[in-house]
Amino acid sequence: MNDNTIPTQLIQTLRTAKQVVVLTGAGISAESGVPTFRDAQTGLWAKYDPMDLATPEAFQRDPRLVWEWYTWRRELVAKAPPNLGHLALVNMQTYLPKFTLITQNVDGLHQRAGSQQVIELHGNLTRSKCVNEHIVDSWQTADELPPRCPHCEQILRPDVVWFGEFLQEQTLYKAMKTVEQCDLIFSVGTSSLVQPAASLPFIALEHGAKLVEINPDSTPLTPHVHFVLYGKSGAILPKLVDLTW
Ligand code: OAD
Repeated sequence: MNDNTIPTQLIQTLRTAKQVVVLTGAGISAESGVPTFRDAQTGLWAKYDPMDLATPEAFQRDPRLVWEWYTWRRELVAKAPPNLGHLALVNMQTYLPKFTLITQNVDGLHQRAGSQQVIELHGNLTRSKCVNEHIVDSWQTADELPPRCPHCEQILRPDVVWFGEFLQEQTLYKAMKTVEQCDLIFSVGTSSLVQPAASLPFIALEHGAKLVEINPDSTPLTPHVHFVLYGKSGAILPKLVDLTW
């Protein structure tokens, strides 16, 4: 099925929902020109080995390489405009009494589109931090890379969660509490493979929420959902909002 038909029952459910959560992944930014991770050919992990670029050990081994790779991604994201999918979620939040956006993305595109109070599970690559946990969004570009923290002179790293690292406890707690309370949850543009994010829809299900997936492909979550909308989020989300309100 790929005809972008939105079931009437889903429209009714969304219209009457009291608390809605949308969990997004890299797929929602694909139409902005930001590569996903696991898509064959175009995904970042098809070209780069995450063990060389996205682990604390990789950073210890070669901080400059890791820093430069994130600089490339930061520049790519800075040029990428939010797309119709991001904008539809901004609209959605205006119609719903309680709406929470939880993202695995580190690109900041939801906020640039206008979404408020986004829970960023994996951090944000536009920010950096040092070993002393000073979070900074600007730093001196020096010959030395990575640059140093303006507060303590330790070297900076991107403020993102790497493989082998824990999510920030409070962020995860907030996300879990929110999904426990929602009555409708969307999983948009994520392969549903990375934990703990992939567990969030299941927590919502256990607490009685209806679950919707938006993705061009099936994922491990698909057999568990109430509604699956196969296709691109930039096409489906605006249509869903238009039909609902
Ligand atoms: P993935 O790359 O694993 O999955 C992207 C998903 O988006 C796939 O299921 C695609 O089918 C789908 N997709 C592609 N284009 C789409 C479109 N236009 N509209 C909707 N969906 C589309 O990305 P994530 O699931 O976000 O972690 O990956 C999870 C985490 O793994 C990332 O946050 C990152 C990565 O390693 C960290 O950086 C810590």
